[in-house]
Amino acid sequence: MGYKIVEREQWSEKVFMMKVVAPDIAKHRKAGNFIIFRLNEVGERIPLTIADADTNDGTIMIVTQDVGYSTAKLMELQVGDEIMDVIGPLGQPTHIEKHDGIVLCVGGGVGIAPLHPIAQSHHNNGNKVVSILGARDKSLIIMEDMMKKISEETLICTDNGSYGEKGLVTDMIKRVYEKGEKISEVIAIGPAIMMKFVAKLTKEYNLPTTVSLNPIMIDGTGMCGCCRVLVGTETKFACVEGPEFDGHLVDFDLLMKRQAMYKKEEHECSLKLG
Ligand SMILES: Cc1cc2nc3c(=O)[nH]c(=O)nc-3n(C[C@H](O)[C@H](O)[C@H](O)COP(=O)(O)OP(=O)(O)OC[C@H]3O[C@@H](n4cnc5c(N)ncnc54)[C@H](O)[C@@H]3O)c2cc1C
Ligand code: FES
Repeated sequence: MGYKIVEREQWSEKVFMMKVVAPDIAKHRKAGNFIIFRLNEVGERIPLTIADADTNDGTIMIVTQDVGYSTAKLMELQVGDEIMDVIGPLGQPTHIEKHDGIVLCVGGGVGIAPLHPIAQSHHNNGNKVVSILGARDKSLIIMEDMMKKISEETLICTDNGSYGEKGLVTDMIKRVYEKGEKISEVIAIGPAIMMKFVAKLTKEYNLPTTVSLNPIMIDGTGMCGCCRVLVGTETKFACVEGPEFDGHLVDFDLLMKRQAMYKKEEHECSLKLG
């Protein structure tokens, strides 16, 4: 028996949300955790963050951007269909402590989905959350209402100015910083290149910065090392020791190089789609 999809919404051409019945995962998940799914017996294992969960109806929410073969196949599924395997919750939960300054939550594109449970957890623990949501264009700004609900203030920007301010998330961080309010922690989740530049800026400002990494994963339980990342001088397995790390210590160039390792195979696989 598989994991039933009970709700599905298309948020833009390539971004969609699904609620999947997985009561044990819904019960045990914490902010920062993710799942690994496999669609069918010939499917690959793909990691996705648990964007939200409801213990009353035993569902977890996943938000996915269609970037290749497996995510496109997932997008084809409808309410009533089943996913063969869903394992989780995986990864270390987010470290939450009480802060006297604001927690600046910065999400890029589909990175807003993994950012949401972390921001929510800070909010539920009494921290003041200010959110910055950025994307290439309007269609990729997701979960705006959900983020606004848990944020004291929400700044939105797009690269092409089609929604919110025209500019990058780093421009918005500068603006918040220059206002002078104390920032206790910055949390940045999005494409590796975005996290790299956020971390570079916040290092100049000396602001503690957490990032959530998305290296290629296979088992997600610490057995293979495929998800290894360099943090300071140490090699870490993102699936069991992360996915959250100190952004000032992560080697983002190595992460991007490793993420691109199977580009040729991924492209060939997508061409056979359908
Ligand atoms: C901890 C974690 C949480 C994530 N959360 C989300 C999320 O909430 N929503 C979301 O849309 N995406 C999330 N991702 C990224 C998602 O796993 C990839 O987009 C997905 O695996 C792409 O698979 P594909 O077959 O559709 O694309 P492919 O054609 O295989 O690849 C497209 C891109 O995805 C990357 N990728 C491929 N396989 C994997 C893999 N097994 N693990 C990681 N990256 C891979 C490739 O390097 C490439 O850049 C997360 C990744 C990690 C590690
Ligand atoms: S995915 Fe295999 S050790 Fe992390």
